[in-house]
Amino acid sequence: MSIRQAVEGEAGYYDRLSLSEEELATFRDFIRRQYLDVIARTAPDALEDFAGAPMRDYHLHAHHIDHAATWTMEERMLPPENVRVIREMAFFRALEDEYGPLGMTDLDMPGRGVYWRIVRPGSSDVGMVHADKWYWDLGHGTMPEGFERLKIWIAIETEPGLNGLAMLPGSHLRDDWQYHPEFRAGYVKPHIDEDVDSLDLQLLPLAPSGMAVFHDAILHAGVENRGRHTRISAEFTALYRP
Ligand SMILES: [Fe+2]
Repeated sequence: MSIRQAVEGEAGYYDRLSLSEEELATFRDFIRRQYLDVIARTAPDALEDFAGAPMRDYHLHAHHIDHAATWTMEERMLPPENVRVIREMAFFRALEDEYGPLGMTDLDMPGRGVYWRIVRPGSSDVGMVHADKWYWDLGHGTMPEGFERLKIWIAIETEPGLNGLAMLPGSHLRDDWQYHPEFRAGYVKPHIDEDVDSLDLQLLPLAPSGMAVFHDAILHAGVENRGRHTRISAEFTALYRP
């Protein structure tokens, strides 16, 4: 089954693409450089602790910094020179083979587009069940005319079965999911009005280098990190002409 058939068909996502070992190392290097740059600027006294440990051990040192205040979206957006490299990777070319030339965007900072997330063990760093479409429908970001959206989520530091991304297969085929806008952390966000516990979200068992390509309207969420390590993932929204 093609990527597009999986994303637009019954499942709503495709999870058979992955990074090569070298590409994973490149991603980790890009993220780590930005991560240490941010810490060097915002908490220079703590830099040595973080620089001497792998990112997956971030939580062991996180008490040295204000986690929520430090990792704003802006600080987690990879710079354009990194994005240029990512666009040349095999997975990106495989996507373009099916979808044609892909534009990239993000909610509020058009022109860049690949950002990463850092989730400590425990439940506090993940969001609620949502469809990405809801954010756009609430007025975040501007879409160029004639394009559709596709989301790509990449596992960088994960423990399969214990953390990562969960999906509700087939949920993109329904358009009556209920939510309302809510003001949280300085931002209007969608708050789902469905009984989330009754939704059968499936945690995708993605090891580092694995990825999910998914539909703009599929319900999904990061899950509580029940692993031993900090989870790190990267994501971006791609635009294609239908
Ligand atoms: Fe999302």
